[in-house]
Amino acid sequence: MEALLQQIEGYKQEIAAADATNAEMAEAFRIKWLGTKGLVKAIMGEMKNVPNEQKKAFGQILNDFKLFAETKYEALKANTAADIATGPSIDLSLPGDAIAVGTRHPLNIVRNQIVAIFRRLGFAVAEGPEIEDDWHNFGAMNLPEDHPARDMQDTFYINQNPAWLLRTHTSSVQARVMETQKPPIRVICPGRVYRNETISARAHCFFHQVEGLYIDENVSFADLKQTLYFFVQEMFGKDVKVRFRPSYFPFTEPSAEMDISCLICAGDGCNICKHTGWVEILGSGMVHPKVLENFGIDSNKYTGFAFGMGVERITQLKYQVNDLRLYSQNDVRFLKQFTGAM
Ligand code: PHE
Repeated sequence: MEALLQQIEGYKQEIAAADATNAEMAEAFRIKWLGTKGLVKAIMGEMKNVPNEQKKAFGQILNDFKLFAETKYEALKANTAADIATGPSIDLSLPGDAIAVGTRHPLNIVRNQIVAIFRRLGFAVAEGPEIEDDWHNFGAMNLPEDHPARDMQDTFYINQNPAWLLRTHTSSVQARVMETQKPPIRVICPGRVYRNETISARAHCFFHQVEGLYIDENVSFADLKQTLYFFVQEMFGKDVKVRFRPSYFPFTEPSAEMDISCLICAGDGCNICKHTGWVEILGSGMVHPKVLENFGIDSNKYTGFAFGMGVERITQLKYQVNDLRLYSQNDVRFLKQFTGAM
């Protein structure tokens, strides 16, 4: 008995002094002491040699010893597990690196707003190809070859096939809608368009439009005015004023350009409105009978209005962006200013 107790005491000292700096050492400890052929098992086996009257007290001592070894093993394991997962000395209280969240492009924000306003009036969204043929971009829109008004929109042609071009306006999408749908037609056509212009703060070789087309019986110029007036009030607020100026587009007759009162200077005169108090935001007019007839729509029965606006211009007025080039430079310092918008 005495010898056994001494042996257990010796084991306990050895266990207390044991150390493990990695997971393998902790596992070696487990095998040596707690494994099926381990020393704890072996000393448990001595129980059968203990006299009956001492079995209870000795059993207690053995259980304490076993628990002692197990506790030590758990501690060694916990220490070395942390080492494996994260390296020896990490500070878990350090804040993490924030992941930068992207933002919507200002042109997308404004395009979405324009689309949402017209959707509430019952307009559906139509889209079409950016590489177009001459017919959908020009011919069908009452711009036959050698028509001088083609010079209003300097066109990029495709080298491999001069019958193809980059659309200069999304009127080409209106053409595709009239080709496939019967009146009543009520669509808006958002999209990117291309014109061969020298890039500057005020002009770019591509920009974005939202054009609209409404064809039904008894559509009048009053409908056009009221629709566009509703649009600017929703877009810029109830205080904005509008005016229409006679204009010319080959695909509309009569045609008008619409100005709104300058939001930057409220009419006092500034650079944006060139000191007139007004800024032009869109072109519009009653669809030319020839355009309707091009698509087999009876111009005695149906009339329609159309309009087209530049998304860049609307965005400039909304957010006071004064250089068109900013929109396509992908400078995060510019783009991140438009967080939180739709
Ligand atoms: N297509 C014209 C342009 O791009 C805009 C417009 C559309 C004008 C419809 C009148 C009617 O300049």
